[in-house]
Amino acid sequence: MTSLTIRDVVAGYGTVSVLHKVSLDVPSGHMAALLGTNGNGKSTLIKAILGIVRVRSGTIVLTHDGVEWPLHEMPTEAIVDIGIGVVPEGRRLFGNLSVRENLLLGAYRKAARAVLARNLDYVYATFPILGERASQLVGTMSGGQQQMVAIARALMIEPSLLLIDEPSVGLAPAIVKQTIQQIRELKENRGLTVLIAEQSFHQATAIADRAYVIAHGEIVMSGDDMQTFGGDEAVRAVYLGA
Ligand SMILES: Nc1ncnc2c1ncn2[C@@H]1O[C@H](COP(=O)(O)OP(=O)(O)OP(=O)(O)O)[C@@H](O)[C@H]1O
Ligand SMILES: [Mg+2]
Repeated sequence: MTSLTIRDVVAGYGTVSVLHKVSLDVPSGHMAALLGTNGNGKSTLIKAILGIVRVRSGTIVLTHDGVEWPLHEMPTEAIVDIGIGVVPEGRRLFGNLSVRENLLLGAYRKAARAVLARNLDYVYATFPILGERASQLVGTMSGGQQQMVAIARALMIEPSLLLIDEPSVGLAPAIVKQTIQQIRELKENRGLTVLIAEQSFHQATAIADRAYVIAHGEIVMSGDDMQTFGGDEAVRAVYLGA
C-alpha cells in the first residue's frame, strides 16, 4: 500500500516561487493525472517530490506499508531508495549504451538488485521489442521505443510509486495511445500508485482515476469522475482555452 499526500507546497528556483501552495493526493493503487500546458509547474512538482527542487514550505508525505516518509525533508537518494520509479521529462536515457545496459542501470538500489532477473524477464515480456533489441544502442531506437525503455527502466527499480513526466512528448498519436494504454496495464498488473504529468488532456484522463489541473503553479481544478471532467465547462475554460 503506497499513497502520496502533498499539502500546501511552495517551491521554486532561486528566489522565484513556481509552486504556490499545491495540494494533491494519490491514493494507493490509483493513477492521478497532473494536467497543464507549458511552463505551469508540472515538472517542478515532480522534482519537488524527488527532492531535486527544495520544498520551501508545505509537506510531501509518502505512506508505504504503514510507514510515513516526509519526502520534503529527505535527500533525493533516500527518496528514490524507498522505491520511487521515475520516467523523467525527455527520458534521460544513455543513448550510447544498449537497451539492456540502460535497464540494468535502473536496478541500482539494493531491493531492486535482489529481484533484477525477475524484473528483466517482466519488462521483456511486457515490451517484447526490448528483448529483441536488448543489445541495440538506445540512441538508435525510435522515439516510441525509447519511451518504452524509459518506462521499463523505471520498473527495474521495483517501484511502488511511479512518477511519469509527459510520456507522450514527441510521439505520433497512435504511439501515444499505445504508450498510455501500456502505462494503464502496468499500473493494474503491478498494483502501482502513479502520478502522471501530461499536456495531452484526453489521453491522460482516459487512463487516470483522478485529475488535477495546474495553472501558474496552482491547482485550479480537480476531479474524480473522468467521464465528466473533460466535459466540465470550467475545466475547458481553464485548460483547453475554450
Ligand atoms: N531550473 C530552473 N531555473 C529557473 N526556472 C525554472 C527552472 N526550471 C523551470 N523553471 C521555470 O518554472 C516554471 C515551471 O516550469 P516547469 O518545467 O515545471 O513546467 P511544466 O509544466 O513542466 O512545462 P512543460 O510542459 O513545458 O514541461 C517555468 O516558468 C520555468 O521557466
Ligand atoms: Mg515539464
